[in-house]
Amino acid sequence: MIDVDFNNIKLLSKKERYTTVLKQVDSLLEGENNVIANLSNIVSLLKNSFGYYLWVGYYLYDEEKNNLVLGPFQGSLACTRIETGKGVCGTSFQNKESIIVEDVTKFPGHIVCDSKSNSEIVVPILSGENALGVLDVDSADYSSFDEIDKIYLEELARKISNILS
Ligand code: SME
Repeated sequence: MIDVDFNNIKLLSKKERYTTVLKQVDSLLEGENNVIANLSNIVSLLKNSFGYYLWVGYYLYDEEKNNLVLGPFQGSLACTRIETGKGVCGTSFQNKESIIVEDVTKFPGHIVCDSKSNSEIVVPILSGENALGVLDVDSADYSSFDEIDKIYLEELARKISNILS
């Protein structure tokens, strides 16, 4: 089990934090293949490493219902299901592209789960041509997410895809 010093990680730059978190994710995944345990620990690690994360979790594709269903998350109660193509999550899933939203009120069709959320990033979890779901992060501040979040969260999404495949 890895020992994470969350006081120390808060002194690092955003890039350094993501690099550290990605290494910690590799250690977490070593020798453990339980999907729920691994997905849960990853979002806990993220939420505790980044002060500006208000909510972080997964929406995973449910083939039977043809929509996205809430997976493990950290934060307040959230919408259980999101239709593909709807909201930031459903749009990112459908287009298989990351979306950075600086102000959620400016994104047409944004789905409000927590009224404290003001900006958001959603990254698809891809497996070859298919999207398996998305990783969604909300912040209470405006414009919290940038290219650095995108690059590292996309790298993380590749690790998450391996967990789900
Ligand atoms: N805002 C998202 C819904 C999920 S919550 O933020 C947890 C969306 O528009 O898809």
